[in-house]
Amino acid sequence: MSLTATHKRPIRSQRLLDLPPYLFIEIDRKRRAKIAAGADVINLGVGDPDRPTPPFIIDAMAEAIRDPRNHPYPFDAGHPDFRQAASRFLKRRFGLTVDPNRHLLTCIGSKDGIAHLPLAVVNPGDAVLGADIGYPVYRSGAIFAGAEYIEMPLTEQRRWLPDLDAIEPAALERARLMWVNHPGNPTAAVADLDFYAKAARLCAEHDIILASDNAYSEVFFEVKPPSMWQVPGLSLDEFHGIEFHSLSKTFNMTGWRIAFAVGHPEVVAALGAVKGNCDSGQFNAIQQAGAVALDHSEHPEVAAMRETYRQRRDVLCEGLRSIGVNVRPPSASFFVWAPCPKGYDSFAFCTRCLEEANVVFVPGGGFAPSANHYFRAALTVEVDRIAEVIRRLKALKW
Ligand SMILES: Cc1ncc(COP(=O)(O)O)c(C=O)c1O
Repeated sequence: MSLTATHKRPIRSQRLLDLPPYLFIEIDRKRRAKIAAGADVINLGVGDPDRPTPPFIIDAMAEAIRDPRNHPYPFDAGHPDFRQAASRFLKRRFGLTVDPNRHLLTCIGSKDGIAHLPLAVVNPGDAVLGADIGYPVYRSGAIFAGAEYIEMPLTEQRRWLPDLDAIEPAALERARLMWVNHPGNPTAAVADLDFYAKAARLCAEHDIILASDNAYSEVFFEVKPPSMWQVPGLSLDEFHGIEFHSLSKTFNMTGWRIAFAVGHPEVVAALGAVKGNCDSGQFNAIQQAGAVALDHSEHPEVAAMRETYRQRRDVLCEGLRSIGVNVRPPSASFFVWAPCPKGYDSFAFCTRCLEEANVVFVPGGGFAPSANHYFRAALTVEVDRIAEVIRRLKALKW
């Protein structure tokens, strides 16, 4: 008997097979082929800061890694020093009063928290509400938990905020969790406190947990994006909500995997219970360095990064307008979300930019069919390269 022939069942679980197909495959393949052929590809596709982590954080890490107290398994809910620094940050930045022992949880990047939250609070057959155009993990987390992901459509007319009045009553009945993400990926949309207040009222009325992904709160150019917990009357101890904050984009720390959740004690504890069974927390030394980062969220290098993104944004948006792209500059996040030139859908436009200009953008159609006339450009290359992008695009006829 051949041992290999006995395997008949698919390797992949049904929940993996249930994930939506990856729609960027073709563009990815072309991009790789271009690079392999030696082309000078300028990649505005990746949402990953291009500059290194600031030295003051590296120095803190170098010290922390030498301290043997940081070497054992991390603390359950996260290192007390990190959680205390997170509570100081929340106080300074948003005016929030947070108990580090009850309201805060260290996450291994906010993706960890986002992916695991449905396992903590959603039952199979429940529904999870979230934007149709958005970070894909809201949907995959829901699917992994056996829940249905019910889309809230985003449109340019509504400034890419979900229309909370348009959610079907049946969806509200079944939903156990609602995701909002502002500043948004890919739309860059910023929500104000009125929006969060309305979402909170709706969720309270229907016993839905409100989850806010605020990973881009510190990448802003004009008005500082708020926290949902700033809504007047919204109490961390009474309202079933949770918000994710990440050090990834603020401090150029994507590879470090460090973030935190701030929320209702039972929601935070439920997420902690899932994580306690999946991982054993983030390396204490990374949390120590993260604490130093959070305590210096207004460090000149952090502020300078915002200025850099602003310059890049201005050069890109002005350049795109000069080739007929009717773009509205984002007020936060490092994403420019723009309509494709007339006559192009997003795949056609992005394919042409790649094939004829060696420039990578992300086609909106890869996020959702409704976004198929938009594209995303990340401001994660230096300004002279952005100017080069514009020079190359201008040389083509649109
Ligand atoms: C909207 C949004 N949320 C969360 C994340 C995850 O970030 P991290 O896990 O690095 O905190 C990303 C990453 O790109 C994102 O775009």
